[in-house]
Amino acid sequence: MKLPTIDTLDLDQRRVFLRVDFNVPLENGHITDDTRIRAALPTIQALRAKGCKLIVASHLGRPKGADPELSLEPVAARLAELLNGEVIFAHDIVGDDVELLTKELTPGGVMMLENLRYHPGEKTGDETFAAQLARLGDAYINDAFGAMHRAETSISAVVGLFENVGIGLLVQKELEALTRLLTGATRPYVAILGGAKVSDKIAVIESLAHRVDHLLIGGAMAYTFLKAQGVPVGASRVEADKLVLAQRLLERCAERGVQVHLPTDHVVNSAFDSDAPPRVVEAILGTDVGLDIGPATVARYAEVIASAKTLFWNGPMGVFEREAYAAGTRGVAEACAACPGYTVVGGGDSAAAVEKFHLADKFSHVSTGGGASLEFLEGKDLPGIKAIRLRSRA
Ligand code: 3PG
Repeated sequence: MKLPTIDTLDLDQRRVFLRVDFNVPLENGHITDDTRIRAALPTIQALRAKGCKLIVASHLGRPKGADPELSLEPVAARLAELLNGEVIFAHDIVGDDVELLTKELTPGGVMMLENLRYHPGEKTGDETFAAQLARLGDAYINDAFGAMHRAETSISAVVGLFENVGIGLLVQKELEALTRLLTGATRPYVAILGGAKVSDKIAVIESLAHRVDHLLIGGAMAYTFLKAQGVPVGASRVEADKLVLAQRLLERCAERGVQVHLPTDHVVNSAFDSDAPPRVVEAILGTDVGLDIGPATVARYAEVIASAKTLFWNGPMGVFEREAYAAGTRGVAEACAACPGYTVVGGGDSAAAVEKFHLADKFSHVSTGGGASLEFLEGKDLPGIKAIRLRSRA
């Protein structure tokens, strides 16, 4: 079913409750990466052009109560800068004063609510909170792709209370890009998975095993797979309770004809925070800890990547935040960027990595959703999508 969009709904001059994902990284109150704010601008501008009055709502971080360090005020200020216009900050989420502000907005006007997660009802699907939120708009648009997998009140319960609901341009773009990875992908199809834990990626590996030709594994999760195969990994991070599962996943991939590639050389040190120079080894022994894939592995992975007609990457290959262990992630990012096929980076750390290496514009699509893009590729019906689908069918 095609979901209603800002183009198919009649939104002219209305108060639009716009759920976005402005969960951006902050350091001492400063936004260190505004990608998610910029990603929502096309929807915001298109709605303003229709004369809509915008009530922009987001969560930020995981506050316990009204933690002032997680206020959305600096985000509202950044949005104002990017729009080169005024954004009224509500300092609250719901209530008479906020409702009055929404009614005082002029066509094209933008206001932003305080962090939705300051309210205890946001996490719990609370009906009273949902009803209070619903009073703030005449229509509901969800452009918060990164939060679509969260069944929170502003994503799910509130949707049934609006008559007009739909998705924004960012969500539309994300769904088109990720759907292409689920159905009708051109082969060879290569998936690259990294990051710390096998346990975070079990469901997506199971799902990709039905689709891809090659699975390249890096990051700390590779050590669990290697150990499961009896390869020594020294003192590297291993999920001891996932060894049997890792072996089973490898067997499942083999049964389906998926070629799984594991690192054959590694960048190691005696500890994560050691000041000793890193070493490249073929076998990780003794008290050494693997912190990145080695250059021979990068070269081998790059060859497979170059052959891809469809490519999905989620999770860094090593501790790329530290320059000494960034070469593996950089090498894979460069190989993906040079791949002429259809290339998608799942959000989170791998999206941060391609931004850091200034390669984002070389990919067909960089998702703004980490968990959301993985859950979508697992084949899950994301709560935010489901709510809009059900409401528009009603
Ligand atoms: C994200 O950053 O992945 C989304 O904003 C969801 O945030 P959460 O994991 O805190 O629910």
